[in-house]
Amino acid sequence: MKRILVTGGLGFIGSHTVVELQNEGFEVVIIDNLSNTSIGVLDKITEITGKKPTFYQIDLRKKEEVKNFFDTNKIDGIIHFAAFKAVGESMQKPLDYYENNIGSLVYLLEEMRDRKLDYFIFSSSCTVYGQADELPITEKAPVKKAESVYGNTKQIGEEIIKDACKAYNLNSIALRYFNPIGAHPSIKIGELPIGIPQNLIPYVTQTAAGIRKELSVFGDDYDTEDGTAVRDYIHVLDLAKAHIAALKRLINKTNKENFEFFNVGTGKGSSVLDVIKTFEKITGEPLNYKIVGRREGDITAAYADTTIANKELNWKTEKTLEEALEAAWKWQQQNKS
Ligand code: UD1
Repeated sequence: MKRILVTGGLGFIGSHTVVELQNEGFEVVIIDNLSNTSIGVLDKITEITGKKPTFYQIDLRKKEEVKNFFDTNKIDGIIHFAAFKAVGESMQKPLDYYENNIGSLVYLLEEMRDRKLDYFIFSSSCTVYGQADELPITEKAPVKKAESVYGNTKQIGEEIIKDACKAYNLNSIALRYFNPIGAHPSIKIGELPIGIPQNLIPYVTQTAAGIRKELSVFGDDYDTEDGTAVRDYIHVLDLAKAHIAALKRLINKTNKENFEFFNVGTGKGSSVLDVIKTFEKITGEPLNYKIVGRREGDITAAYADTTIANKELNWKTEKTLEEALEAAWKWQQQNKS
């Protein structure tokens, strides 16, 4: 049985991936510093799978602790989620973002090199494409200059991994996520935004729950069908499964290059108004929203061409936008805040 380290394994995407790994028979060891989640998630994972993953509260910026961990734990591969991810905050605190997102990545790769570990899955983002010239976005689309420090850490992260794979003969896959949403069907784990949500779906569900008065729709003058911006919203469970598919590709050595990257989206674009309409259908209530000006740094449209990921990873999404929003809504109702 392969023993997989999941960094950030108590976070939104990490926790869902841990569940899927356990369901697939992998043994999971989680490292999380609890900076953006709570230890309670560990119990929820255990409730879902019936197996408690091994857990270490370690901050990956502490090189000695990382080394110590690998000295005392036999690990076969790593899925690396742990990172800061708030776009706005990254502009205020660039060095924190570079230290955390890049520093921890380098330390992990050093351990991979020194201990000859072979599987490394990296959380990347469609933000590396910026506003792509052609839609849907294929993996062949060029990486554009990052709009945010957060986005830059993903671009630099991919570069670092690529160089390390080449020099030390490691194998890695970066998954470029589109917009992950939803919650586990058990409604035991989901997204836990701290403070005022920056992302659309938690803002929508909190508005419907009466926690926020009204949703601001950022711009209706985009060059899209209804004027609002278009994104590719992927159910977090489908996204979690993409990690298992990528890991198996590395384990089975069916990867074609040392370093590969894939788009992980549904292939379907939805506008902000599409999301609102679908959500209203689910709750049966109108959502309180108003159109306001564009948000700085937002792009017009991004949705994935998933042809390559579907074929190479032998993976495809199964859940609809409606199912994802329904899960997000149930999760919201259960959490109340
Ligand atoms: C952002 C990040 C992305 C990151 C993702 C998930 C950028 C450019 N984007 O994506 O890298 O992976 O978050 O954390 O770095 N909207 C509203 N009202 C709101 C909130 C959002 O209208 O209150 C709109 C936005 O303008 C956008 C869409 O909803 O058109 C989705 O926004 P959001 O959920 O924040 O995701 P992205 O900005 O696409």
